[in-house]
Amino acid sequence: MALHRRIGILGTGAYAPAQILTNKDLEKMVDTSESWILERTGIQERRIIGPDEDIATMALAAGRQALANAGIEASRLSFIIVGTNSADYLFPAAAIRVQDALGVNRQLAAFDLQAGCTGFNYALYVAEHLTAPEGKYALVIGSDASSRFTNWTDRSTCILFGDGAGAVVVGPVPQGGIKTSFLASALSMKLLCQTEFNAENSPFLPPHQTTHRHFLTMDGPEIFKFAVNAVKESIRRIVEMSRIEREELDYVILHQANHRIIEAAARFAKLPLEKFYVNVHRYGNTSAASVPLALHEAVTEGKIKAGDKVLLVSFGAGVTWGAALVIWSY
Ligand code: UT7
Repeated sequence: MALHRRIGILGTGAYAPAQILTNKDLEKMVDTSESWILERTGIQERRIIGPDEDIATMALAAGRQALANAGIEASRLSFIIVGTNSADYLFPAAAIRVQDALGVNRQLAAFDLQAGCTGFNYALYVAEHLTAPEGKYALVIGSDASSRFTNWTDRSTCILFGDGAGAVVVGPVPQGGIKTSFLASALSMKLLCQTEFNAENSPFLPPHQTTHRHFLTMDGPEIFKFAVNAVKESIRRIVEMSRIEREELDYVILHQANHRIIEAAARFAKLPLEKFYVNVHRYGNTSAASVPLALHEAVTEGKIKAGDKVLLVSFGAGVTWGAALVIWSY
């Protein structure tokens, strides 16, 4: 599809639930230690979604803030896309619940998109290609509550994840904008979450006993290797596609999964760690929310300025990975 307009990010927003789960709290739940978690992951605490919240309520809070920061009314949107892996309903989509809450039923198309922790990069790519031909606007959100399908007795996974949401408004920009982007995927069963409920209660299937199949499971070291390679490939591909040198990147928003992955990326990119936003210590891995949540905080803290070459990179279950180079517009 030919792109006709420059599409850029016009505003950002984020939402993090109030409840904090610290490494000390986890010591009381599983056989782990505050220092092991900090040394192996860089995570100190993460947020846990409240009983009255869900994917759509978090997405809405982040989305409203992104719209306000962009100065765009919801009525000007043509698309709402929510990247999520933990939507409360298979249908209706969380994006449609956000649409309804914003009062724009029937005025636009809203849908969810599932691509593991790369959900935001996937949603951004789709939004870019949907909005570019006619210069339309889209609200792109990453919202996840991995705490809802985490096995809280499994120390190898429950220490890693947290809940939250992040959002951006995309639309036409006079200069800058998304310069290059790509997505990729390949089948891997090393990080998975099975939908056990699909197999329950069907007269056409053998009876199932209650299992742990619906919990997230992961081969941590294998996913770690995949993650480092995916980040390297992403940086390599983006600099080649953009015809720039790695050193020209002004700022990198990398999926916040593990501080050691961020360090490996900085070494490979030949960039100082200061050019990588880090909030993994405060939120853990918030899955599809990770990149937009970090992006919003980086923008709010004044780390990104107009004209900066900002790289957004994520990787996750599937496996999926992808990146976008954005020339910051404001
Ligand atoms: O969005 C993508 C999602 N996933 C990721 O990005 C995760 C990528 N992987 C990782 O971040 C790391 O592999 C982990 C943090 C999950 C694990 O770190 P690791 O350095 O790869 O540790 P490991 O799995 O090789 O385990 C080392 C040891 C093992 O003990 P033994 O066999 O050496 O005696 C584990 O049983 O650490 C043990 N261990 C723990 N110890 C204390 C595993 N989890 C814990 C724990 N507390 N929570």
